[in-house]
Amino acid sequence: MTLPPKPPAREEGRVSLWRYTRLFRQDILSAQPARLYRAWMAEFRTPFFRSYLCNQPDLVDLVLKQRPDDFPKSDRIREGLAPLLGNSVFVTNGETWKRQRRIIDPSFEGGRLRDTFPAMLAAGQGAVARLQGKADGEPIEIEAEASHAAADVIFRTLFSIPIEDEVASAVFHKFREHQRAQPVLNLGALVPLPRWFPRFHRRGARRTAKEIRALITRLTAHRMTEIKAARAPDDLATKIMTTADPLTGERFDTEEMVDQVAIFFLAGHETSASALAWALYLLALYPEWQDRVAVEVLAAIGQEAPDFSDIARLRQTRDVFRETLRLYPPVPMMVRETTCPERLRDRDVPPRAQIVLSPWHQHRHERLWDKPDAFDPERFDTPDGREALRCAYMPFSAGQRVCPGAGFAMIEGVLLLALLVRAYRFDIVPDRPAMPVAHLTVRGRDGIWLRITPRGRAA
Ligand code: HEM
Repeated sequence: MTLPPKPPAREEGRVSLWRYTRLFRQDILSAQPARLYRAWMAEFRTPFFRSYLCNQPDLVDLVLKQRPDDFPKSDRIREGLAPLLGNSVFVTNGETWKRQRRIIDPSFEGGRLRDTFPAMLAAGQGAVARLQGKADGEPIEIEAEASHAAADVIFRTLFSIPIEDEVASAVFHKFREHQRAQPVLNLGALVPLPRWFPRFHRRGARRTAKEIRALITRLTAHRMTEIKAARAPDDLATKIMTTADPLTGERFDTEEMVDQVAIFFLAGHETSASALAWALYLLALYPEWQDRVAVEVLAAIGQEAPDFSDIARLRQTRDVFRETLRLYPPVPMMVRETTCPERLRDRDVPPRAQIVLSPWHQHRHERLWDKPDAFDPERFDTPDGREALRCAYMPFSAGQRVCPGAGFAMIEGVLLLALLVRAYRFDIVPDRPAMPVAHLTVRGRDGIWLRITPRGRAA
């Protein structure tokens, strides 16, 4: 059976820092050797830094769950992302980060997810309607559609505005421009190069970051006025801006809220869009699974609009989405830093070394998963699959810094997949196969192309 696309690994053996950086600049996934799919831990030494990639579940557990405060995010991550993200929860550490999470987390709890469901549904229905004009069997690039849909979800749930809103649409388009100006945003974050090393920062990226922040400031300042006048809609932005830290009583001011909105937009739409696009690609590659999803959705909700409780009944759709997140984790690698001497496996690791946790490698690890490169949504029903799910599956990270949007994203992903597959049939375009590369998230090297036809009028 055909395997889902996987980038070729680079040749084994040492490569110079220049070559590594060049490979890295092209794509972090194919810059790595194949042994990382078998290794428990791998060390990279360069004249400037040491880096340790950890795949062994108990090492990952140590870093993310047991002693997370001893393995913070490095300042370089903040450095690389500061123009756009300021002091957002994604880049802070220590007490500032803890306070920010205490304010943000309650907005993503189960009850609140139920409240945001109608806004997600409206975005999903919008995506189905948008594709109507394009469902003529001609190849279309599905990542762009998925990004549009995921951005719509964020604006509707956060600010109760659709993507067609003037400011929302401007943020979305500026953001695309920003990525074109700085497509390897995470390079600086992942490789702690010395200051004299060329950074590939581009002036255009600073300008677009500033423009995006100015637009977001308009949204948050307006919302602050509405909150003060007691006429704000009851959405995620209002909830986050009115929640006081239970320990200090502090709330986010407008400036700090701009930082958070920027990361919600970035972390919340790029990732979900990547997952949705790959899920549709996998369903096109495995049409028997696409039919199973369509049958399940029709049996559970027919042609009706689903409600929140229907999502839990779409188990096969959820397993397809879960398997997509395993094969194409939108955030392929995460980086932490040691703060004191550590002994990891049989190695002494100095302070300020980089610890790389790689969902990409762990999810395809040959010693942790059965047939790691195969698409098999049923694997989660087997004892081995359940065990691997427990100890070697981290698309949303784990521990105290786990993605606060994980529950949100699992509902959004299943809902959008269900609505799209109920309405349309997705087929691959044989002369345009997709190949994953890691940009800010895992994307198709030349996009992800599919043909779409209304379901029932198969191509
Ligand atoms: C399929 C969708 C998503 C995936 C795979 C995903 C994955 C992740 C991962 C792996 C991290 C940890 C990164 C690190 O530690 O370096 C993270 C953090 C984060 N995510 Fe998500 N995410 C998704 C959707 C969302 C959504 C929908 C939101 C918000 C609406 C969101 C908001 C955040 C925030 C604010 C953080 C920073 C948390 C912190 O550092 O304390 N994510 N996400």
